[in-house]
Amino acid sequence: MYHLLIIVTILSFSSILIAFAVDEAFPSVPTTFSVAKNHSDDLKPIRREVYGVERKVFDISHRYTPELPAWESSEGLGKFMRLAVSMKNGSVANISKMKLSVHSGTHVDAPGHFHEHYYDSGFDSDSLDLQILNGPALLVDVPRDKNISAEVMKSLHIPKGIRRVLFKTLNTDRRLMFKKEFDSSFVGFLVDGAKWLVENTDIKLVGLDYLSFAAYDEAPATHRFILERRDIIPVEALKLDDVEVGMYSLHCLPLRLVGAEGAPTRCILIK
Ligand SMILES: *[C@@H]1O[C@H](CO)[C@@H](O)[C@H](O)[C@H]1NC(C)=O
Ligand SMILES: *[C@@H]1O[C@H](CO)[C@@H](O)[C@H](O)[C@H]1NC(C)=O
Ligand SMILES: *[C@@H]1O[C@H](CO)[C@@H](O)[C@H](O)[C@H]1NC(C)=O
Ligand SMILES: *[C@@H]1O[C@H](CO)[C@@H](O)[C@H](O)[C@H]1NC(C)=O
Repeated sequence: MYHLLIIVTILSFSSILIAFAVDEAFPSVPTTFSVAKNHSDDLKPIRREVYGVERKVFDISHRYTPELPAWESSEGLGKFMRLAVSMKNGSVANISKMKLSVHSGTHVDAPGHFHEHYYDSGFDSDSLDLQILNGPALLVDVPRDKNISAEVMKSLHIPKGIRRVLFKTLNTDRRLMFKKEFDSSFVGFLVDGAKWLVENTDIKLVGLDYLSFAAYDEAPATHRFILERRDIIPVEALKLDDVEVGMYSLHCLPLRLVGAEGAPTRCILIK
């Protein structure tokens, strides 16, 4: 299903990216909001979830690490990146290369993901509308004991006119994205929930907190239904741990991967 690979070369002279390439570069994720300095004194890069004080910027993308869960895998992403050219070996710079499914970590799906004719026609990640991917968004909590059915959608009372909604579910409470082993019991949309959304709301961006916006058992049918329309963008594997329910300004900028039916994306919320 996820057959496209991307290979990206990271060339950087900055100490931050260089440190990213070494082994102990993935410290445990801080859970408190800290007001970060704009530099570090001890050559240790600052890693943060929230930037700023009055105008907060929440990073709702997951870090790419070998332990990040991957679809139907018990091994996680594994070693997806390596230092291909290194200073230690006499090169003028350190250059890392990576190889991973475009549906890894925080990512978007394009219409070609489940529709062959759209794939062939070029409805790839480069064709996704940045106006949908950027703008006011509502973060909602969904009931923890159910997948997202029509009944659940109805109970959320999402007002007309809201175009972007991020759904915080039991997946966040269970910290599923922090567990290496893929867990098919994650919460997501059911087909009738997706139908209800299309028929009764103005939502064009659907964000969820695990690798698929649709529940495992109904993932193919729900993806097919939503992606067929070509006007709704699923954003998957968002990191909603530290963010409270409410209205934000959402900004998602997927990589422009021509020919790819999805793409990794950085997503942030600004309050
Ligand atoms: C960076 O920090 C220094 C002091 O640590 C401060 O004077 C400066 O204004 C800061 N710059 C920005 C862009 O925040
Ligand atoms: C470059 O990569 C090497 C590993 O080959 C690492 O030890 C070193 O710290 C990196 N940075 C620099 C500036 O050499
Ligand atoms: C450096 O070179 C050695 C010997 O050719 C090789 O075994 C090693 O993998 C290289 N390391 C990197 C980071 O390129
Ligand atoms: C959601 O659906 C999955 C199967 O797709 C199931 O394993 C899981 O238990 C359901 N979650 C809830 C909260 O009902």
